[in-house]
Amino acid sequence: MKVEIILIICINAFSIGVKSQIEQETTDNPQQLSTGADSSQTFFIDNPVQLSTGADSSQTFFTEANSVGQGNAAIFEQQLSAVKTQATGTGTCSGGTYNVKDFGAKGDGKTDDCKAIQAAWLAACKCTGSPKVLIPSGTYLTGPVQFFGACKGTTITLQVQGTLKASTNLGHFGQRDWICFGWVRGLILTGGGTFDGQGTASWPYNKCPVTKKCNVLPTNLKFNAMTDTTVKGITSLNSKFFHIGVVNCQKFNVIGVHITAPGDSPNTDGLHFERSSDVTITDSIIATGDDCISIGHGNSRMTIKGITCGPGHGISVGSLGRYQNEGDVNGLLVKNCTLSKTTNGVRLKTWESSPNPSKAINITFEDIIMNNVCNPIIIDQTYCPYVSCESKLPSKVKLQDIFFRRIRGTSSTPIAVWLKCNKNIPCQNVVLQDINLSHPAGAKSTCQNIQAKTLGTVIPTPCKG
Ligand SMILES: *[C@@H]1O[C@H](CO)[C@@H](O)[C@H](O)[C@H]1NC(C)=O
Ligand SMILES: *[C@@H]1O[C@H](CO)[C@@H](O)[C@H](O)[C@H]1NC(C)=O
Ligand SMILES: *[C@@H]1O[C@H](CO)[C@@H](O)[C@H](O)[C@H]1NC(C)=O
Repeated sequence: MKVEIILIICINAFSIGVKSQIEQETTDNPQQLSTGADSSQTFFIDNPVQLSTGADSSQTFFTEANSVGQGNAAIFEQQLSAVKTQATGTGTCSGGTYNVKDFGAKGDGKTDDCKAIQAAWLAACKCTGSPKVLIPSGTYLTGPVQFFGACKGTTITLQVQGTLKASTNLGHFGQRDWICFGWVRGLILTGGGTFDGQGTASWPYNKCPVTKKCNVLPTNLKFNAMTDTTVKGITSLNSKFFHIGVVNCQKFNVIGVHITAPGDSPNTDGLHFERSSDVTITDSIIATGDDCISIGHGNSRMTIKGITCGPGHGISVGSLGRYQNEGDVNGLLVKNCTLSKTTNGVRLKTWESSPNPSKAINITFEDIIMNNVCNPIIIDQTYCPYVSCESKLPSKVKLQDIFFRRIRGTSSTPIAVWLKCNKNIPCQNVVLQDINLSHPAGAKSTCQNIQAKTLGTVIPTPCKG
Protein backbone atom coordinates (compact mmCIF):
# COMPACT_ATOMS: atom_id res chain seq x y z
CA MET A 1 0.00 0.00 0.00
CA LYS A 2 2.72 2.41 0.97
CA VAL A 3 4.83 1.53 -2.04
CA GLU A 4 1.89 1.95 -4.40
CA ILE A 5 1.17 5.45 -3.27
CA ILE A 6 4.81 6.43 -3.41
CA LEU A 7 5.01 5.17 -6.95
CA ILE A 8 2.00 7.22 -7.92
CA ILE A 9 3.54 10.37 -6.57
CA CYS A 10 6.93 9.95 -8.21
CA ILE A 11 5.65 8.64 -11.51
CA ASN A 12 3.16 11.48 -11.66
CA ALA A 13 6.01 13.84 -11.26
CA PHE A 14 7.48 12.43 -14.39
CA SER A 15 4.36 12.25 -16.47
CA ILE A 16 1.95 15.11 -15.77
CA GLY A 17 1.73 17.57 -18.57
CA VAL A 18 4.58 16.10 -20.53
CA LYS A 19 4.89 15.03 -24.11
CA SER A 20 7.70 12.62 -24.69
CA GLN A 21 8.78 14.68 -27.64
CA ILE A 22 9.31 17.71 -25.42
CA GLU A 23 11.16 15.60 -22.91
CA GLN A 24 13.51 14.55 -25.63
CA GLU A 25 13.97 18.01 -26.98
CA THR A 26 14.70 19.55 -23.63
CA THR A 27 17.11 16.79 -22.67
CA ASP A 28 18.89 16.06 -25.85
CA ASN A 29 18.71 19.28 -27.70
CA PRO A 30 18.36 22.33 -25.53
CA GLN A 31 19.14 24.62 -28.46
CA GLN A 32 16.17 23.51 -30.48
CA LEU A 33 13.54 25.12 -28.27
CA SER A 34 15.34 28.31 -27.59
CA THR A 35 15.47 29.63 -31.13
CA GLY A 36 12.04 31.21 -31.68
CA ALA A 37 10.73 33.96 -29.40
CA ASP A 38 7.75 31.85 -28.37
CA SER A 39 9.45 28.52 -28.11
CA SER A 40 8.97 28.23 -24.37
CA GLN A 41 5.21 28.31 -24.92
CA THR A 42 5.38 24.69 -25.95
CA PHE A 43 6.65 23.38 -22.63
CA PHE A 44 3.35 22.99 -20.90
CA ILE A 45 1.36 21.89 -23.87
CA ASP A 46 -0.91 19.60 -21.83
CA ASN A 47 -1.67 22.20 -19.28
CA PRO A 48 -4.63 24.35 -20.26
CA VAL A 49 -4.79 26.09 -16.87
CA GLN A 50 -1.36 27.49 -17.21
CA LEU A 51 -1.80 28.64 -20.76
CA SER A 52 -5.17 30.29 -20.25
CA THR A 53 -4.80 34.01 -19.87
CA GLY A 54 -8.29 34.99 -18.70
CA ALA A 55 -8.87 37.38 -15.81
CA ASP A 56 -8.18 34.75 -13.19
CA SER A 57 -8.11 36.41 -9.83
CA SER A 58 -6.08 33.84 -8.00
CA GLN A 59 -3.23 33.62 -10.47
CA THR A 60 -1.16 35.78 -8.27
CA PHE A 61 1.68 33.78 -6.90
CA PHE A 62 4.26 35.00 -9.32
CA THR A 63 3.41 38.65 -9.42
CA GLU A 64 6.03 39.41 -11.98
CA ALA A 65 6.10 36.24 -13.94
CA ASN A 66 2.41 35.51 -14.34
CA SER A 67 0.26 32.47 -14.73
CA VAL A 68 0.74 30.20 -11.73
CA GLY A 69 -1.54 29.90 -8.73
CA GLN A 70 -4.86 28.31 -9.40
CA GLY A 71 -3.45 25.44 -11.43
CA ASN A 72 -0.89 24.58 -8.81
CA ALA A 73 -3.40 24.87 -5.98
CA ALA A 74 -5.78 22.43 -7.67
CA ILE A 75 -3.01 19.91 -8.21
CA PHE A 76 -1.81 20.35 -4.65
CA GLU A 77 -5.31 19.60 -3.38
CA GLN A 78 -5.48 16.36 -5.37
CA GLN A 79 -2.12 15.25 -4.12
CA LEU A 80 -3.04 16.22 -0.60
CA SER A 81 -5.90 13.76 -0.39
CA ALA A 82 -3.59 10.94 -1.46
CA VAL A 83 -0.92 11.86 1.03
CA LYS A 84 -3.37 12.58 3.83
CA THR A 85 -4.60 8.99 3.72
CA GLN A 86 -1.07 7.89 4.44
CA ALA A 87 -0.38 10.39 7.15
CA THR A 88 -3.47 9.57 9.16
CA GLY A 89 -3.14 5.82 8.53
CA THR A 90 -2.46 3.06 11.00
CA GLY A 91 1.06 4.08 12.07
CA THR A 92 1.84 3.60 15.74
CA CYS A 93 5.33 5.13 15.75
CA SER A 94 6.40 8.04 17.86
CA GLY A 95 9.38 10.24 16.99
CA GLY A 96 12.38 8.46 15.47
CA THR A 97 14.83 9.20 12.66
CA TYR A 98 14.01 8.17 9.10
CA ASN A 99 17.20 8.06 7.05
CA VAL A 100 16.51 8.19 3.32
CA LYS A 101 19.35 5.70 2.78
CA ASP A 102 17.30 3.11 4.70
CA PHE A 103 14.55 3.70 2.17
CA GLY A 104 16.84 3.02 -0.80
CA ALA A 105 18.38 6.41 -1.57
CA LYS A 106 21.78 6.08 -3.23
CA GLY A 107 23.08 9.63 -2.84
CA ASP A 108 25.47 9.02 -5.74
CA GLY A 109 24.41 12.05 -7.79
CA LYS A 110 23.21 9.80 -10.64
CA THR A 111 20.36 7.65 -9.37
CA ASP A 112 16.95 9.27 -9.10
CA ASP A 113 16.32 9.26 -5.34
CA CYS A 114 12.82 10.73 -5.45
CA LYS A 115 11.00 7.58 -4.31
CA ALA A 116 13.29 6.96 -1.35
CA ILE A 117 13.03 10.54 -0.11
CA GLN A 118 9.28 10.50 -0.53
CA ALA A 119 9.01 7.16 1.30
CA ALA A 120 11.07 8.37 4.28
CA TRP A 121 8.85 11.45 4.56
CA LEU A 122 5.63 9.44 4.47
CA ALA A 123 6.96 7.11 7.17
CA ALA A 124 7.92 10.02 9.44
CA CYS A 125 4.74 11.92 8.74
CA LYS A 126 2.67 9.09 10.25
CA CYS A 127 4.43 9.32 13.61
CA THR A 128 3.37 11.24 16.66
CA GLY A 129 5.91 13.25 18.66
CA SER A 130 8.82 14.83 16.78
CA PRO A 131 10.03 12.54 14.00
CA LYS A 132 12.97 13.42 11.78
CA VAL A 133 13.78 12.68 8.15
CA LEU A 134 17.52 12.60 7.60
CA ILE A 135 19.20 13.18 4.25
CA PRO A 136 22.86 12.48 5.14
CA SER A 137 25.85 13.79 3.20
CA GLY A 138 25.91 12.73 -0.45
CA THR A 139 24.39 14.08 -3.66
CA TYR A 140 20.77 13.19 -4.33
CA LEU A 141 19.37 13.68 -7.80
CA THR A 142 15.61 14.15 -7.93
CA GLY A 143 12.73 15.65 -9.88
CA PRO A 144 9.84 17.25 -7.95
CA VAL A 145 9.33 16.00 -4.38
CA GLN A 146 6.28 16.67 -2.22
CA PHE A 147 6.58 16.96 1.54
CA PHE A 148 2.90 17.20 2.30
CA GLY A 149 0.85 16.87 5.46
CA ALA A 150 -1.14 16.85 7.47
CA CYS A 151 1.36 14.92 9.60
CA LYS A 152 0.65 13.39 13.00
CA GLY A 153 3.56 14.80 14.99
CA THR A 154 3.77 18.06 16.88
CA THR A 155 6.85 18.92 14.80
CA ILE A 156 8.59 17.19 11.93
CA THR A 157 12.23 17.84 11.06
CA LEU A 158 13.78 17.49 7.64
CA GLN A 159 17.49 17.49 8.26
CA VAL A 160 19.40 17.88 5.03
CA GLN A 161 23.13 17.40 5.38
CA GLY A 162 23.77 16.47 1.77
CA THR A 163 23.10 18.19 -1.54
CA LEU A 164 19.87 17.73 -3.44
CA LYS A 165 20.27 18.31 -7.17
CA ALA A 166 17.24 19.06 -9.32
CA SER A 167 16.72 17.18 -12.53
CA THR A 168 17.72 19.34 -15.51
CA ASN A 169 14.99 17.82 -17.68
CA LEU A 170 12.14 20.33 -17.60
CA GLY A 171 9.84 17.58 -18.85
CA HIS A 172 10.10 15.99 -15.39
CA PHE A 173 8.35 18.93 -13.78
CA GLY A 174 5.14 19.51 -15.68
CA GLN A 175 3.87 22.63 -13.95
CA ARG A 176 5.31 21.67 -10.60
CA ASP A 177 7.87 23.32 -8.46
CA TRP A 178 10.86 21.32 -7.29
CA ILE A 179 10.83 20.82 -3.51
CA CYS A 180 7.27 21.43 -2.30
CA PHE A 181 6.03 21.60 1.25
CA GLY A 182 2.32 21.86 1.98
CA TRP A 183 -0.18 21.65 4.86
CA VAL A 184 2.42 20.77 7.49
CA ARG A 185 2.39 22.12 11.03
CA GLY A 186 5.70 22.52 12.85
CA LEU A 187 8.15 21.82 10.02
CA ILE A 188 11.82 22.36 10.84
CA LEU A 189 13.99 22.38 7.71
CA THR A 190 17.61 22.39 8.75
CA GLY A 191 20.96 20.57 8.52
CA GLY A 192 23.27 22.87 6.55
CA GLY A 193 22.57 21.11 3.24
CA THR A 194 22.15 22.52 -0.26
CA PHE A 195 19.25 22.60 -2.71
CA ASP A 196 20.87 22.94 -6.12
CA GLY A 197 18.24 23.81 -8.73
CA GLN A 198 20.77 23.39 -11.56
CA GLY A 199 19.07 26.33 -13.24
CA THR A 200 21.77 27.30 -15.70
CA ALA A 201 20.44 25.01 -18.43
CA SER A 202 16.84 26.25 -18.07
CA TRP A 203 17.37 30.02 -17.83
CA PRO A 204 17.41 30.47 -21.63
CA TYR A 205 13.82 29.07 -21.72
CA ASN A 206 12.48 31.71 -19.37
CA LYS A 207 10.74 34.41 -21.40
CA CYS A 208 9.04 36.01 -18.37
CA PRO A 209 11.43 38.97 -18.19
CA VAL A 210 10.33 40.03 -21.68
CA THR A 211 6.70 38.97 -22.03
CA LYS A 212 3.64 38.57 -19.83
CA LYS A 213 2.56 35.42 -21.63
CA CYS A 214 5.26 33.11 -20.49
CA ASN A 215 5.59 29.73 -18.88
CA VAL A 216 6.94 29.67 -15.39
CA LEU A 217 9.86 27.44 -14.51
CA PRO A 218 10.02 25.49 -11.20
CA THR A 219 10.73 27.26 -7.92
CA ASN A 220 13.43 25.59 -5.81
CA LEU A 221 11.56 25.48 -2.48
CA LYS A 222 7.85 26.19 -2.32
CA PHE A 223 5.84 26.36 0.90
CA ASN A 224 2.06 26.36 0.76
CA ALA A 225 -0.47 26.54 3.62
CA MET A 226 2.08 25.78 6.34
CA THR A 227 1.82 26.70 10.03
CA ASP A 228 4.77 27.25 12.33
CA THR A 229 7.67 26.66 9.98
CA THR A 230 11.39 27.13 10.65
CA VAL A 231 13.89 27.14 7.80
CA LYS A 232 17.37 27.31 9.23
CA GLY A 233 20.91 27.16 7.87
CA ILE A 234 20.26 25.73 4.43
CA THR A 235 21.57 26.86 1.01
CA SER A 236 19.53 27.39 -2.13
CA LEU A 237 21.67 27.42 -5.26
CA ASN A 238 20.92 28.32 -8.90
CA SER A 239 17.15 27.90 -8.81
CA LYS A 240 15.47 27.54 -12.18
CA PHE A 241 13.03 30.30 -11.16
CA PHE A 242 12.39 31.68 -7.63
CA HIS A 243 14.57 30.24 -4.87
CA ILE A 244 12.00 30.18 -2.06
CA GLY A 245 8.28 30.88 -2.55
CA VAL A 246 5.96 31.12 0.47
CA VAL A 247 2.18 31.25 0.01
CA ASN A 248 -0.61 31.12 2.56
CA CYS A 249 1.68 30.42 5.51
CA GLN A 250 1.33 31.51 9.13
CA LYS A 251 4.29 31.80 11.51
CA PHE A 252 7.16 31.37 9.09
CA ASN A 253 10.74 31.85 10.32
CA VAL A 254 13.84 31.91 8.17
CA ILE A 255 17.22 31.99 9.91
CA GLY A 256 20.72 31.94 8.47
CA VAL A 257 20.04 30.82 4.93
CA HIS A 258 22.33 31.30 1.94
CA ILE A 259 20.82 32.02 -1.44
CA THR A 260 23.07 32.13 -4.48
CA ALA A 261 22.59 32.60 -8.22
CA PRO A 262 24.35 34.82 -10.77
CA GLY A 263 23.36 38.49 -10.95
CA ASP A 264 22.07 38.04 -14.50
CA SER A 265 19.93 34.92 -13.93
CA PRO A 266 16.23 35.59 -14.76
CA ASN A 267 13.50 35.67 -12.05
CA THR A 268 15.69 34.03 -9.42
CA ASP A 269 14.06 36.00 -6.58
CA GLY A 270 15.54 34.96 -3.23
CA LEU A 271 12.44 34.84 -1.04
CA HIS A 272 8.95 35.70 -2.24
CA PHE A 273 5.90 35.89 0.05
CA GLU A 274 2.19 36.03 -0.63
CA ARG A 275 -0.83 35.94 1.70
CA SER A 276 1.32 35.06 4.70
CA SER A 277 1.55 36.48 8.20
CA ASP A 278 3.85 36.55 11.21
CA VAL A 279 7.00 36.07 9.18
CA THR A 280 10.59 36.70 10.29
CA ILE A 281 13.69 36.49 8.12
CA THR A 282 17.01 37.00 9.88
CA ASP A 283 20.77 36.78 9.35
CA SER A 284 20.76 35.57 5.77
CA ILE A 285 22.97 36.16 2.75
CA ILE A 286 21.29 36.57 -0.62
CA ALA A 287 23.05 37.02 -3.96
CA THR A 288 20.79 36.54 -6.94
CA GLY A 289 19.42 37.84 -10.26
CA ASP A 290 16.13 39.39 -9.10
CA ASP A 291 14.72 40.73 -5.82
CA CYS A 292 16.61 39.43 -2.78
CA ILE A 293 13.30 39.49 -0.93
CA SER A 294 9.93 40.42 -2.44
CA ILE A 295 6.80 40.98 -0.40
CA GLY A 296 3.77 40.33 -2.59
CA HIS A 297 0.16 41.09 -1.75
CA GLY A 298 -1.76 39.95 1.31
CA ASN A 299 1.14 39.77 3.76
CA SER A 300 1.06 41.11 7.31
CA ARG A 301 3.34 41.33 10.33
CA MET A 302 6.70 40.68 8.71
CA THR A 303 10.14 41.40 10.15
CA ILE A 304 13.31 41.21 8.06
CA LYS A 305 16.62 41.74 9.88
CA GLY A 306 20.32 41.23 9.26
CA ILE A 307 20.15 40.55 5.52
CA THR A 308 23.13 40.95 3.21
CA CYS A 309 21.83 41.46 -0.33
CA GLY A 310 23.76 41.71 -3.58
CA PRO A 311 23.93 41.23 -6.42
CA GLY A 312 20.17 41.40 -6.94
CA HIS A 313 17.28 43.83 -7.32
CA GLY A 314 17.10 44.76 -3.62
CA ILE A 315 14.34 44.33 -1.05
CA SER A 316 10.92 45.08 -2.52
CA VAL A 317 7.33 45.48 -1.51
CA GLY A 318 5.46 44.41 -4.62
CA SER A 319 4.90 44.37 -7.29
CA LEU A 320 1.33 45.13 -6.17
CA GLY A 321 -1.86 46.03 -7.99
CA ARG A 322 -1.65 43.76 -10.97
CA TYR A 323 -4.33 41.16 -10.26
CA GLN A 324 -7.98 41.13 -9.13
CA ASN A 325 -8.74 41.16 -5.40
CA GLU A 326 -5.24 41.48 -4.03
CA GLY A 327 -4.91 41.70 -0.24
CA ASP A 328 -3.21 44.57 1.58
CA VAL A 329 0.37 44.54 2.81
CA ASN A 330 0.19 45.60 6.46
CA GLY A 331 3.08 45.84 8.92
CA LEU A 332 6.59 45.30 7.57
CA LEU A 333 9.86 46.13 9.30
CA VAL A 334 13.13 45.85 7.37
CA LYS A 335 16.06 46.58 9.68
CA ASN A 336 19.86 46.28 9.86
CA CYS A 337 20.44 45.21 6.26
CA THR A 338 23.35 45.82 3.88
CA LEU A 339 22.81 46.06 0.15
CA SER A 340 25.78 46.00 -2.23
CA LYS A 341 25.78 46.70 -5.96
CA THR A 342 22.08 45.97 -6.30
CA THR A 343 19.87 47.54 -8.99
CA ASN A 344 17.53 48.87 -6.29
CA GLY A 345 17.84 49.31 -2.57
CA VAL A 346 14.56 49.42 -0.67
CA ARG A 347 11.62 49.67 -3.04
CA LEU A 348 7.83 49.79 -3.25
CA LYS A 349 6.48 48.99 -6.71
CA THR A 350 2.89 49.03 -7.95
CA TRP A 351 1.43 48.49 -11.41
CA GLU A 352 -0.73 50.99 -13.22
CA SER A 353 -4.25 50.03 -14.27
CA SER A 354 -4.85 47.89 -11.17
CA PRO A 355 -8.18 46.05 -11.30
CA ASN A 356 -9.07 46.74 -7.63
CA PRO A 357 -8.00 49.13 -4.87
CA SER A 358 -5.60 47.83 -2.21
CA LYS A 359 -3.13 49.26 0.31
CA ALA A 360 0.41 48.91 1.53
CA ILE A 361 0.47 50.37 5.02
CA ASN A 362 2.86 50.63 7.99
CA ILE A 363 6.11 49.80 6.23
CA THR A 364 9.47 50.71 7.82
CA PHE A 365 12.97 50.48 6.39
CA GLU A 366 15.61 51.41 8.97
CA ASP A 367 19.34 51.08 9.69
CA ILE A 368 20.20 50.17 6.13
CA ILE A 369 23.62 50.49 4.50
CA MET A 370 23.83 50.97 0.73
CA ASN A 371 27.10 50.21 -1.11
CA ASN A 372 27.03 51.45 -4.69
CA VAL A 373 23.34 50.80 -5.11
CA CYS A 374 21.34 52.00 -8.10
CA ASN A 375 18.09 53.64 -6.79
CA PRO A 376 18.79 53.18 -3.06
CA ILE A 377 15.35 54.50 -2.00
CA ILE A 378 12.59 54.11 -4.54
CA ILE A 379 8.80 54.24 -4.72
CA ASP A 380 7.59 53.36 -8.22
CA GLN A 381 3.83 53.50 -8.77
CA THR A 382 4.21 53.18 -12.54
CA TYR A 383 5.99 49.86 -12.37
CA CYS A 384 6.33 48.07 -15.70
CA PRO A 385 9.13 45.54 -16.15
CA TYR A 386 8.54 45.20 -19.90
CA VAL A 387 9.48 47.53 -22.71
CA SER A 388 6.01 49.04 -22.46
CA CYS A 389 2.74 48.30 -20.69
CA GLU A 390 -0.57 48.64 -22.51
CA SER A 391 -2.76 50.80 -20.34
CA LYS A 392 -1.99 54.00 -18.52
CA LEU A 393 -4.62 54.36 -15.83
CA PRO A 394 -3.02 55.22 -12.47
CA SER A 395 -2.37 52.53 -9.90
CA LYS A 396 -5.16 51.87 -7.36
CA VAL A 397 -2.72 50.85 -4.65
CA LYS A 398 -2.55 53.31 -1.79
CA LEU A 399 0.78 53.66 0.00
CA GLN A 400 0.42 54.91 3.56
CA ASP A 401 2.68 55.27 6.63
CA ILE A 402 5.96 54.47 4.90
CA PHE A 403 9.10 55.20 6.94
CA PHE A 404 12.69 55.39 5.68
CA ARG A 405 15.05 55.89 8.65
CA ARG A 406 18.81 55.89 9.09
CA ILE A 407 19.69 54.86 5.57
CA ARG A 408 23.23 55.71 4.53
CA GLY A 409 25.91 54.92 1.99
CA THR A 410 26.55 55.36 -1.70
CA SER A 411 24.36 55.50 -4.77
CA SER A 412 25.68 54.35 -8.15
CA THR A 413 23.36 56.81 -9.95
CA PRO A 414 22.81 60.51 -9.16
CA ILE A 415 19.12 59.98 -8.25
CA ALA A 416 19.53 58.42 -4.82
CA VAL A 417 15.94 59.03 -3.69
CA TRP A 418 13.22 58.53 -6.28
CA LEU A 419 9.62 58.87 -5.12
CA LYS A 420 7.19 58.34 -7.97
CA CYS A 421 3.70 58.30 -6.43
CA ASN A 422 0.19 58.02 -7.73
CA LYS A 423 -1.76 60.88 -9.29
CA ASN A 424 -5.22 59.89 -8.07
CA ILE A 425 -4.44 58.26 -4.75
CA PRO A 426 -1.37 60.09 -3.44
CA CYS A 427 1.12 58.46 -1.10
CA GLN A 428 0.17 59.39 2.44
CA ASN A 429 2.57 59.95 5.32
CA VAL A 430 5.89 59.03 3.74
CA VAL A 431 8.68 59.97 6.15
CA LEU A 432 12.41 60.34 5.42
CA GLN A 433 14.51 60.54 8.58
CA ASP A 434 18.31 60.73 8.95
CA ILE A 435 19.20 59.81 5.40
CA ASN A 436 22.74 60.22 4.04
CA LEU A 437 23.26 58.93 0.50
CA SER A 438 26.07 60.18 -1.68
CA HIS A 439 27.14 60.05 -5.32
CA PRO A 440 30.43 61.39 -6.71
CA ALA A 441 28.58 63.87 -8.95
CA GLY A 442 26.24 64.90 -6.12
CA ALA A 443 23.17 62.89 -5.15
CA LYS A 444 19.67 64.17 -5.96
CA SER A 445 16.05 63.43 -5.10
CA THR A 446 13.23 63.21 -7.65
CA CYS A 447 9.55 63.35 -6.70
CA GLN A 448 6.21 62.96 -8.45
CA ASN A 449 2.88 63.51 -6.71
CA ILE A 450 4.39 63.55 -3.25
CA GLN A 451 5.76 65.72 -0.56
CA ALA A 452 7.53 63.47 1.92
CA LYS A 453 7.92 64.56 5.54
CA THR A 454 11.52 64.88 6.67
CA LEU A 455 13.05 64.50 10.11
CA GLY A 456 16.70 64.98 11.14
CA THR A 457 19.28 65.45 8.39
CA VAL A 458 18.23 64.27 4.95
CA ILE A 459 20.89 64.11 2.20
CA PRO A 460 20.22 64.48 -0.74
CA THR A 461 18.05 67.58 -0.35
CA PRO A 462 14.40 66.49 -0.28
CA CYS A 463 12.19 67.30 -3.24
CA LYS A 464 8.58 68.32 -3.83
CA GLY A 465 6.64 67.14 -6.80
C1 LIG B 1 23.00 43.26 11.95
O1 LIG B 1 23.11 42.26 10.94
C2 LIG B 1 24.35 41.57 10.94
C3 LIG B 1 24.31 40.61 9.78
O2 LIG B 1 24.31 41.31 8.58
C4 LIG B 1 24.55 40.85 12.27
O3 LIG B 1 25.81 40.24 12.25
C5 LIG B 1 24.48 41.86 13.39
O4 LIG B 1 24.53 41.19 14.62
C6 LIG B 1 23.17 42.64 13.31
N1 LIG B 1 23.17 43.70 14.31
C7 LIG B 1 22.17 43.90 15.14
C8 LIG B 1 22.33 45.06 16.09
O5 LIG B 1 21.17 43.22 15.16
C1 LIG C 1 3.27 48.46 12.31
O1 LIG C 1 3.98 47.27 12.02
C2 LIG C 1 4.81 46.83 13.06
C3 LIG C 1 5.52 45.60 12.57
O2 LIG C 1 6.45 46.00 11.63
C4 LIG C 1 3.98 46.51 14.31
O3 LIG C 1 4.85 46.14 15.36
C5 LIG C 1 3.18 47.74 14.69
O4 LIG C 1 2.32 47.41 15.76
C6 LIG C 1 2.36 48.23 13.52
N1 LIG C 1 1.71 49.48 13.86
C7 LIG C 1 0.39 49.67 13.71
C8 LIG C 1 -0.11 51.01 14.07
O5 LIG C 1 -0.33 48.79 13.30
C1 LIG D 1 27.28 61.70 5.26
O1 LIG D 1 28.17 60.66 4.86
C2 LIG D 1 29.45 61.14 4.48
C3 LIG D 1 30.27 59.93 4.06
O2 LIG D 1 29.58 59.21 3.09
C4 LIG D 1 30.11 61.82 5.65
O3 LIG D 1 31.35 62.38 5.24
C5 LIG D 1 29.20 62.95 6.16
O4 LIG D 1 29.75 63.51 7.35
C6 LIG D 1 27.82 62.41 6.48
N1 LIG D 1 26.93 63.51 6.82
C7 LIG D 1 26.19 63.51 7.91
C8 LIG D 1 25.35 64.72 8.14
O5 LIG D 1 26.14 62.55 8.67
